[in-house]
Amino acid sequence: SACGKKEAAPAPAAEAPAAPQVKEYVVGTDAAYAPFEFENEKKEVEGFDMDVLRAVADKAGFKVKFVNTPWEGIFATLAQGDRDMVISAVTITDERKQSMDFSDPYFEARQLIAIGKGVTDVKKFADLKGKKVAVQTGTTGDEVVQKLLGKTSADIKRFESTPLALKELESGGVQAVVADNGVVINYLKNNASNGIATVADNDSFAPEFYGIAVKKGNAELQGKLNEGIKAIKADGTYDKIYAKYFGE
Ligand code: ARG
Repeated sequence: SACGKKEAAPAPAAEAPAAPQVKEYVVGTDAAYAPFEFENEKKEVEGFDMDVLRAVADKAGFKVKFVNTPWEGIFATLAQGDRDMVISAVTITDERKQSMDFSDPYFEARQLIAIGKGVTDVKKFADLKGKKVAVQTGTTGDEVVQKLLGKTSADIKRFESTPLALKELESGGVQAVVADNGVVINYLKNNASNGIATVADNDSFAPEFYGIAVKKGNAELQGKLNEGIKAIKADGTYDKIYAKYFGE
C-alpha cells in the first residue's frame, strides 16, 4: 500500500468459548392491529403482543424476530414452517385448535360493535340484520356476523385489515363494524370526531381468549411459551405491560 508500513494482520481471534446457543424464533404477526401490533415510523413492529412475547422469551430463554405477515394465510405459515409462532391477537377457538396448537391464554377480549354516524337503530347485535357490516376476513368478528347474517350474505363486506373495515364505516359504505373491543376502542381514541360510536352487547358475544399459536404438535415450544407466560404473570411483568397499553 502507499504508506508502506502495513500492520500485521491481527491474529485470528481465539475460538470463543462455545456460547450456549440461544434459539431465535420467527414470529408472524399482522401488524395492523393497534394496540396489539402495529408498525411504528421506523417500520418496526411494536405493540402489546410484542412486549408480552419478548418478556416471555426472556423468561424462557429464547429470542424472537417479528415478521409482519398478512392475516389471510398467517396460520398456513405455521404448517409450512415459515413462522415458528403467530402472535396476532389470535382468539383460541375449537376450530383453530384442530389445525394448530396454542399457548395458555394471555388476554381476554370480546367483540364490540361500532356504528357509523347517524345510525340510531342499533342497540344490540341482532339489530344488525338488514344492515351492511364490515369485518376483517377470517376473524372471529367475521364468524359471528356470518352466523347472524348468513355466510354468503351480500351485506357482509370483508376487508384484509380491521382499519380498512373501520375506514369503510367512516366513509358510510357500511353501517357497522364488528371487531375485537381493544382495537375498536383504540381506533376511536385516535380518530375522534368521525361520528363512530360503539354498542357493547355482552349478552350476544362470548368472551374470547388470545393465545400464541404454534405448529400442531410443537409441544416443546408450546411448553416454553406457557412457562414464560406463567413467569411474567407471577412476577408483575405482565401487569406492567398491561398498564402501559391499557391503563389510562
Ligand atoms: N381476535 C380475532 C381473531 O382471532 C382477530 C385477530 C386479528 N388480528 C390481527 N392482528 N389482525 O380472529
